[in-house]
Amino acid sequence: MNNGGHADIRVPLIAGNWKLHHTLEETRSWCETLATQTKHSDSELSLLVAPPFTALQTAAHSLAGSVIALAGQDCFFEDKGAYTGEVSAPLLKDIGCSHCIIGHSERRQYFGDDDTTVQRKVRALLEHGLIPILCVGESLTEREDGRATQVVVRQLGAALAGMDHLGSDSLVVAYEPVWAIGTGKTATPEDAQHMHRTIRDHLGKLMGVSSARHVRILYGGSVKPDNAYALMSGPDIDGALVGGASLNAKDFLSIAKESNRAWMSR
Ligand code: PGA
Repeated sequence: MNNGGHADIRVPLIAGNWKLHHTLEETRSWCETLATQTKHSDSELSLLVAPPFTALQTAAHSLAGSVIALAGQDCFFEDKGAYTGEVSAPLLKDIGCSHCIIGHSERRQYFGDDDTTVQRKVRALLEHGLIPILCVGESLTEREDGRATQVVVRQLGAALAGMDHLGSDSLVVAYEPVWAIGTGKTATPEDAQHMHRTIRDHLGKLMGVSSARHVRILYGGSVKPDNAYALMSGPDIDGALVGGASLNAKDFLSIAKESNRAWMSR
């Protein structure tokens, strides 16, 4: 499928973040559904899933030969050593991941990830040729105080400090307003587009305007089949990072279809 001939330079990415969900059996079943349903699809959309670490091998096996890429949900910044409980970029690469989510608000809120650790993790992934899906987003208080842009710009600048030669293929950014994650609330399509444009403009300052034009910026926070079309209509919205609705293979596929429809029509 082509996109109707318009000159959109970024093919959308729909990424599923399972968080702490799915056994091996559930993983197999989800992956088999996705692999079967996308086999003869002519959609150009990129698809990706981030299962828990315990399910990565099963997912890698079930998705082999499919178009669906694999991601970690987090990684530590050291390659190896005495770090009980951690997983590193080389280990994620070894198991077949091409991407890894970094700086998710749940990591920042519950596990102490801050701007410095996020930057070190981004760097570790890049060193090993993995693509960080860098999450940024403001809390409800920060939005209500009128500081949403300031927070997001700070998070971006800190995470990408010293990486001004970053190529556009080396990075995905996900804008996830914290108040929209798992709450059923979403930013309006206009607010989302506005923040995505702000992010792209700021990326232009950090990595150069032409690279920034090609970086995919995903929206995340309560994306569902019935709101995906509206959310994906903004010209700077290049896909979605989907939590709850990605657990069900059919819902995830519906979101991908709706996003493709939005992309084709813009
Ligand atoms: P949600 O989660 O879709 O369940 O709101 C999104 C995310 O946290 O990535």
